[in-house]
Amino acid sequence: MTELQVPPVVVVTGTDTDVGKTVVTAAVVATGRAAGLRVAAYKPTQTGVSPGQPGDMAEVERLTEACTAEGVRLRAPMAPRPAAALEHAVLPTLADHVARVADLRRRHDLVVVEGAGGLLVELTDAAETLADLATALPDSGVLVVARAALGTLNHTMLTREALSHRGVRQIGIVIGSWPARPDIIEETNRDYLGALPEGLLGVLPLGAPSLDPTAFRAAAPGWLAGLSQRLGTP
Ligand SMILES: Nc1ncnc2c1ncn2[C@@H]1O[C@H](COP(=O)(O)OP(=O)(O)OP(=O)(O)O)[C@@H](O)[C@H]1O
Ligand SMILES: [Mg+2]
Repeated sequence: MTELQVPPVVVVTGTDTDVGKTVVTAAVVATGRAAGLRVAAYKPTQTGVSPGQPGDMAEVERLTEACTAEGVRLRAPMAPRPAAALEHAVLPTLADHVARVADLRRRHDLVVVEGAGGLLVELTDAAETLADLATALPDSGVLVVARAALGTLNHTMLTREALSHRGVRQIGIVIGSWPARPDIIEETNRDYLGALPEGLLGVLPLGAPSLDPTAFRAAAPGWLAGLSQRLGTP
């Protein structure tokens, strides 16, 4: 993997909850597999699910058939720390997550880690965030999922600034849902994000998660053309 321009651990964060991190995670997995890599996905903290209920990793598995794992699952549909407090659960430590990712790396070339909510949501009882996890994970970089619409520039720049302040490697930006008929705001947002140094890795079209999984897997490398280019062809 040393020759690749994409690190073997890709941490997917978003400018907010519900921006499309799970669907982008699936598209990154599919793009990695299309490039001939063995790819797994990991969700450190999955909230809003009961035991046995499908979470984000079930959606990634449905779309990609890849191997996935969860660190912990909590019932309340809220941030991990208050959700854990409600059921008196102890959250995994940062070292626990690092060990789980290291274990997945032993059997895969690329591990895609999907955060909870945005970058600074606390994931551990010691108040560590996804930014801290990215810092602790060797050979990792962060991919930021952003919205297309008005407001995205401020949210994206805030997330980038927090990453750069912590010295976290930034792989690139992906727009989670791109409309069939973008307006002038969306078009200029895309141009602006595309001109940033880390670059725009691609955009997922509106409706991407409704495609059947075979069509999703076939289309993902084209949606994420910037990522495909950096991964190279098999
Ligand atoms: N390109 C798209 N087109 C249409 N719907 C989309 C698209 N991307 C995401 N969605 C839908 O928007 C919702 C939120 O997306 P998703 O679950 O990927 O967000 P998330 O950032 O992972 O949220 P969370 O913070 O809960 O993990 C889902 O219902 C998903 O199916
Ligand atoms: Mg998600």
